[in-house]
Amino acid sequence: VKAFQVMIVTNASIAPLYLSSVQEAFSKFQCDVVVIPDGEAYKNQEGLFAIYDGLIENQHHRDTTLVALGGGVVGDITGFAAATYQRGVRFIQAPTTLLAQVDASIGGKTAINHRLGKNMIGSFHQPHAVLMDLTTLSTLPEREFCAGFAEIIKYALLVGGNFLKKVDALLEQGYSSMTLPQQADLIAQCCDIKANFVQEDEKEIGRRALLNLGHTFAHALEVYTNYRRWLHGEAVGIGLYCAALLSYASGSLDKCHLLSVDSLLANAKLPRRIPKEIDLDKLQDLMFSDKKIVNKKLRFVLMRAPGDCYIETEITADSLRYVLMNAVEGEKS
Ligand SMILES: NC(=O)c1ccc[n+]([C@@H]2O[C@H](COP(=O)([O-])OP(=O)(O)OC[C@H]3O[C@@H](n4cnc5c(N)ncnc54)[C@H](O)[C@@H]3O)[C@@H](O)[C@H]2O)c1
Repeated sequence: VKAFQVMIVTNASIAPLYLSSVQEAFSKFQCDVVVIPDGEAYKNQEGLFAIYDGLIENQHHRDTTLVALGGGVVGDITGFAAATYQRGVRFIQAPTTLLAQVDASIGGKTAINHRLGKNMIGSFHQPHAVLMDLTTLSTLPEREFCAGFAEIIKYALLVGGNFLKKVDALLEQGYSSMTLPQQADLIAQCCDIKANFVQEDEKEIGRRALLNLGHTFAHALEVYTNYRRWLHGEAVGIGLYCAALLSYASGSLDKCHLLSVDSLLANAKLPRRIPKEIDLDKLQDLMFSDKKIVNKKLRFVLMRAPGDCYIETEITADSLRYVLMNAVEGEKS
């Protein structure tokens, strides 16, 4: 009987690429594997219970360690399985997407989606370690790479200054020509920014909420489309534009900043507008089932300028509606 237990959780696309080398690293341990289907639509109770099944069937005890090998979907669901299996076991994040390396693997938010709401069932459970191999990005399709940039742009808008200039320049240069050292430097800076927010406010009582810039819109769009139309980062692209537009419509943000947010997103090849066929009444209703509601009021992260974001609780349904209408593709804003 081997002394230590490890359960690697990954998905059907990542397993053929990286599973065997991670298994090799744990060859001295009892190392089991759960492979879940690929996609945001599987960050749900079925995927979660597949992980519990694997743990129970293979007799994993409280001193087991789960390893999340994959993007943010695998990371979030594995983290939540670790938070809840036998009231909490260790887990390690091994993120393989840009989005997970710069954002999802850090900070200890774990969750699954509900049919009616994104990340509705979850827990704060910090990973024991985050281990990333940047060479895994070499197999990441361009679409997923772009999606990761949505969260990088979010950080740039939150902190402004030199970091924003750097992201802007990288996007101008075209990120396909980024060198590995440039990538490493960018990812490390993002991890620092996120870690800073989390250290100050782990349970999101205050400042950590700023990291939700664009996300109230994004989550509603993801729920609306049953988590199938966009990658999370793509929905965040539209969400960031909507947040900038709401900031502009509320009189907080200058037009030139609105335009520069739009061009950052465009340079990252991200979607920035709400598709015409989306029913705005339904979308607006979905926004009201968001987790960021306090006293029945939506809390939006707005911008005065890059590097100067704040929480606004007094947005009226009318001004929200105006912004949604103006964020629809084909509208001039
Ligand atoms: N916990 C947090 O703080 C936090 C923060 C941001 C986002 N998230 C969550 O993260 C999720 C999005 O993460 P994501 O963008 O990584 O999506 P994802 O996990 O769905 O990965 C995107 C795609 O890339 C594939 N893939 C992953 N690594 C690969 C590689 N190296 N080579 C080839 N293909 C690879 C995946 O199989 C998938 O098809 C969302 O569920 C979001 O809610 C969580």
